[in-house]
Amino acid sequence: MPTFTKPRWVLSEREATPESIFYARRTLIKSAGLGMIGAAVAAPAHAGLLDNIFGADTPTADSEVDPTADLYPVPRNEAYTHTRPITDEGLATTYNNFYEFGSHKRIYNAAQKLAIRPWSVILDGMVEQEQTIDIDTLIRQMPLEERVYRHRCVEAWSMVVPWTGFAMADFVKLARPTAGAKYVRMETFENPEVASGQRQSWYPWPYVEGVTLEEATNPLAFLVTGVYGKPVPEQNGAPLRLALPWKYGFKSIKSLVRFTFTDQKPVSFWEELAPTEYGFWANVNPEVAHPRWSQAEEKPLGADEEIPTQLYNGYAEEVAGLYKGMEGERIYF
Ligand code: MTE
Repeated sequence: MPTFTKPRWVLSEREATPESIFYARRTLIKSAGLGMIGAAVAAPAHAGLLDNIFGADTPTADSEVDPTADLYPVPRNEAYTHTRPITDEGLATTYNNFYEFGSHKRIYNAAQKLAIRPWSVILDGMVEQEQTIDIDTLIRQMPLEERVYRHRCVEAWSMVVPWTGFAMADFVKLARPTAGAKYVRMETFENPEVASGQRQSWYPWPYVEGVTLEEATNPLAFLVTGVYGKPVPEQNGAPLRLALPWKYGFKSIKSLVRFTFTDQKPVSFWEELAPTEYGFWANVNPEVAHPRWSQAEEKPLGADEEIPTQLYNGYAEEVAGLYKGMEGERIYF
C-alpha cells in the first residue's frame, strides 16, 4: 500500500481546511482597504496581491480562444429560481476544488495548463453504439440554456452560479443506452504531465463519479459548458462538467472525457479513498452530519454569515421522489 495522505478536507476539521485560510485572506484584503473581490477583472489583481503575501504562483491570463465562445451568452431559463444572490464571478472562479491540480483552493492558475482543445468525449458501455464525439460538435448540437443553481460543497461552503449547458437527459438520449443500463459512470481526463495532483499516486485517478439513469435523466441534472455567460474556464471544469445541485459538490465531476452506461454501481473517487466518509448518493441533508463536522449550516462564498442548509440543497420538490422507499439506505452521505 502506498503511504496514504488524506487531503485536508478529508482529514481535518473544517476550521483547519484551506477555506479558513481563504477567509483569512479576505479579511486581509479588507484590512488593506481593497474591499472584497469584486468583478472578474478585479480578481487577478487581488489574487496577485495575495500571492505575493502567501507565495503562490502569479496568475496568468488564458490565451486560448474557445471555438464555441460565439455561442455565449445564452438566454436564462427562469424556471430555475434562486433566493440568494449570485456569487461574485471572481470568487467562484478563483476558489476551487480540482484535486488534479492540487489539494488546496488556489488551483486556478495551475489549471490553465489543461489543453481543452482538441477534446473528445467517449460514450460507451451499454449503449446501442459506442461513440466518440468532438466537444465542439457536441456543444453546437445541444440546446444550450443558462440556469442559476445553488452549489453546496461537502466542506460546508456554498455558492450560487449561472451555469450554461444542456440537460443531461438530452445527452442520455444521444447516447441511446440499452435496456439493462442502470447507471452512468463518468470519468475526468488523466494526464499527470499537466495535472500535478495526478502524480500523487495515493489518489485513485482518474476522478470518477456515478449516478443512476433516473438521476441522470432528472430534469435538474445539467451538463455544463459555460458559466457567467462565457465558456467555462479550466478551473471550473472545462470544457464539460456536471452540475447536480441537490448533491454535495464532489458529485459534480469536472473536465469529462468518458460516460459509460453500465448495470454496475460505480465506485466514485472519494468513496474509494474514504468509504466511511463519502458514499454513492451524497444527497444534501442538514440533519445528517459528516462523520467529522455538522452539515446543518453553510458559508456562502463572499458572505459574512452562515446560513441554514436545506434538504436536497433546496431541490426536494424536484428530486425527493427519486429516493422513495430508500429510507433505510445511506442516501445522505
Ligand atoms: N471534479 C474533479 N475532476 N476533480 C475534483 O477535485 N472536486 C469536486 C467537484 N468536481 C473535483 C471535481 C468538488 S469537492 C467540488 S465542491 C466541486 O467540483 C467544485 O467546483 P468549483 O471549483 O467549480 O466550485
